[in-house]
Amino acid sequence: MNTLREVLVAPSLLSADFSNMIGGVRTIEKARGDWIHLDVMDGMFVPNITFGPKMVSDLREHTDLPLDVHLMIQKPEMHVDQFAEAGSDHITFHLEAVVHAHRLVERIKSLGKKAGISIVPSTPAALLSELAAILDLILIMTVNPGYGGQKFIPACVDKIRTLDTLRKNNGYSYKIAADGGICVKTADIVRKAGVDVLVTGSTFFSASEPAVLVSELKGNKVI
Ligand code: DX5
Ligand code: ZN
Repeated sequence: MNTLREVLVAPSLLSADFSNMIGGVRTIEKARGDWIHLDVMDGMFVPNITFGPKMVSDLREHTDLPLDVHLMIQKPEMHVDQFAEAGSDHITFHLEAVVHAHRLVERIKSLGKKAGISIVPSTPAALLSELAAILDLILIMTVNPGYGGQKFIPACVDKIRTLDTLRKNNGYSYKIAADGGICVKTADIVRKAGVDVLVTGSTFFSASEPAVLVSELKGNKVI
């Protein structure tokens, strides 16, 4: 029995086999994941390097699931047009990586895409207050970005509560996502705090039954 509202699950291909991304996509589809989360890393904003817009355009040919692109890169304003052209559905950049965040949100929306902003654990939610009205998505990092398989940072949960309250008090429509260290236990915590989207990488791709995991992350008790 799910006593809370329905949340979406967005498995991240970061923990898939990079030599078989289509296999990862099929695993997500079979497990009834809602979005495919794509972690773009440049080796500068974060220490790790993953892939660029070509991965998005190649995968776009093979799935109808929404492609949820998380840009962990410096100067995202130089790249959003390419990611939009590649077929991204949501484009999320880091507040810490830009000066003109408002301008970049408007640019992403003008390209016909959902616009998101992410904040790392050390960035307060209050820094989003002037942008909240125009955002489609806020991605709360619950680990320091860069790698899969890290430990959930509980101190980040208060930011979800704060942003959920801000949304309710002002009638804003953004979704709130949690990304990093999400498993059945931490999913329960962030769902109760008001999250709408759960990003899951290592837990999803190491699950013996990914479809069961997706259901459990949503708060369903699986017998
Ligand atoms: C981390 C990425 C995450 C990552 C989460 O920097 O943004 O999306 O895939 O992986 P897990 O679920 O293993 O923490
Ligand atoms: Zn991510």
